[in-house]
Amino acid sequence: KFEKIWLTFGIGTLLVFLTTVGVGAFYMGTQPASCLVTIDPEKVRETAPFDNPGLRHIEGNKYELNIVTSAFAFTPNQIQIPKGAEVVINVTTTDVVHGFQVAGTNINMMVHPGYINTYTQKFDKTGEYLILCNEYCGAGHHLMSAKIEVV
Ligand code: CUA
Repeated sequence: KFEKIWLTFGIGTLLVFLTTVGVGAFYMGTQPASCLVTIDPEKVRETAPFDNPGLRHIEGNKYELNIVTSAFAFTPNQIQIPKGAEVVINVTTTDVVHGFQVAGTNINMMVHPGYINTYTQKFDKTGEYLILCNEYCGAGHHLMSAKIEVV
């Protein structure tokens, strides 16, 4: 009888421990400081700046690039950026978690529904850069790609 009590207590303690670690890891690990801005995922396409996604000139060499991810596409999926541009990239999703990785750069974000992820990147080299989704998001995950052309 006592064994049963101790066993229950042991399992209970283990569960509390695992939950604490799990919850901690979730909030610390998967919510980078850059996704503090929130957005209603269902209203992304009606909410500025995502109602008119793409590259926008701010001033001088400063640009803003707004990207919408959804199963299974990036909008827009062809982007031209002038060489030397400093681009603030904002990414959000209309549905599930997607990835936003630009091959050949340090840009690698996890895009959570309800949040806007931001990353600033200077494009100094001309060429083509592949944008990939690196989070499994469903049957069409492998089809999800886009292209940045620095000219
Ligand atoms: Cu989107 Cu994988």
